Amino acid sequence: MPLPWSHDVSELFDVLNPPGFRAEARAQGLTLQRALYEALKRGIVQGRLLPGASLPGSRELAQELGMGRNGVVHAYEQLATEGHLQCSRQGTVVAALGAGVHGSGRAEGHTEGRKGGRASADGERPRRAALSRRSEGFHRLRDPAQELLPFMPGIPALDAFPIAQWDRLMAQSRRHSGSDALCYRDPSGEPELRQAIATYLRAARGVHAGADQVFVTDGTQQALELCARLLADVGDTAWIEHPGYGGARTALLQAGLRLQPVTVDAEGIHPPEAWWAERTPRLVYTTPSHQYPLGPTLTLARRMQLIEQARRHGCWLIEDDYDSEFRHDGPPLAAMQGQVQDAPVVYLGTFSKTVFPALRTGFMVLPAAVAEQAAGVIGAWAPRGHAIAQRALASFIAEGHFTRHLRRMRQLYRERQVALREALATHWPWPGEVLGAQAGMHLVLSLPEVLPDHALCEAALQQGLSPRPLTAYGTGGIGGFNGLVMGYANTPAETMVPLVRTLASVARSLA
Ligand SMILES: Cc1ncc(COP(=O)(O)O)c(C=O)c1O
Repeated sequence: MPLPWSHDVSELFDVLNPPGFRAEARAQGLTLQRALYEALKRGIVQGRLLPGASLPGSRELAQELGMGRNGVVHAYEQLATEGHLQCSRQGTVVAALGAGVHGSGRAEGHTEGRKGGRASADGERPRRAALSRRSEGFHRLRDPAQELLPFMPGIPALDAFPIAQWDRLMAQSRRHSGSDALCYRDPSGEPELRQAIATYLRAARGVHAGADQVFVTDGTQQALELCARLLADVGDTAWIEHPGYGGARTALLQAGLRLQPVTVDAEGIHPPEAWWAERTPRLVYTTPSHQYPLGPTLTLARRMQLIEQARRHGCWLIEDDYDSEFRHDGPPLAAMQGQVQDAPVVYLGTFSKTVFPALRTGFMVLPAAVAEQAAGVIGAWAPRGHAIAQRALASFIAEGHFTRHLRRMRQLYRERQVALREALATHWPWPGEVLGAQAGMHLVLSLPEVLPDHALCEAALQQGLSPRPLTAYGTGGIGGFNGLVMGYANTPAETMVPLVRTLASVARSLA
């Protein structure tokens, strides 16, 4: 049984970070047993795991972290020997720490460091510089040193981007821009780009948007940070899909919101009716067009329910429309934001999938009623830059290169996906269900129990393949998953058969 990372164990979830646990251990050069020992000890001495808190059984925890049970048993034993844990037949709990144990931990930890870095007048030892307590729960989502490998999710076809065209537009933008482009720029974004985005969104996505409602951001994650600060206060509740987008989890947590994971089914995000009153959210983060990563499309009935309940409870819906342009089974569906007049929806989009990720450009569309006030607040936070690139992007959209590129990519991604599915149907030895293939740049292949996704991905990486384990997308809710998230957009169709064969042989040797 996978662990339910519900409220009572969510601190443990943050301490261990199961989705990134194995990668983190590898990055630090630790064995999984040592990494578990270190993480638990840190959580205890820093007071994040409180005396009396129960830890999961070794079998369940081993399964959740994708490691051997013996490693968990040995880590628990070592911590018990040191007085951090008490193990009995009833289970394993965090021990009440003696002054010595606690004191020594705190001297190394964040608590004293945060009091300041200076020695006090009475000759106390200088305190160590340390990050804030809330910073400690965060882990790198993507290893920047990792090379691009087949099946890595979220990467568009980089070699198919019209780079010569882009270079021309950048040079033109530079030539036509005066020295004002080198100064601090409007934090809401360049007017031409805001206009081009609004025009595109109205025509292609049915979004109700005037240029003054569009705010250019450094991508979706930054847009989410802005949303959290603009629309919610520290301690407010945000609902997030489970499984879901780790970038959203990070942004919302970092803004000091309390996360409530909400399960996803075949019709999209599915909050229990009673939660609207009992766990009333301030924000609901959702990916209606193509749920990330499982893939269902949020049904019209669910969209209407969400909007109605959000209105009733004074809550904001955040619609992340990250890959809706790539619909493979018909024309793209209209965005939720435009389906009801004046819906309490903030619409987010990104150019990371449709142009290229290094552009670091996305946008949010705020309802007209709050856009002007928000512009003032955003203006007080930080000025924006990159005027030349923003103007080049505006021309790329306005001159039709953007829609042409999207048309080509839709066709290319469809071909690549068909090739991947055919290769799986022929060369994958297990009857795996394929999910979420109607849209986007990735699909999900469900795995049999004999193939834990973490272990398979780890072994596949040794062979130069980089699908992501579905369990890595857990956001703390109930329900276990076992599958591969396989990106196909950046992988040529003719390579799918040999790549799937390699994956299958890795899997056979594991099973
Ligand atoms: C669900 C989702 N939204 C948005 C993004 C894009 O984020 P950004 O614009 O910060 O690159 C991603 C990237 O993988 C994603 O998976």
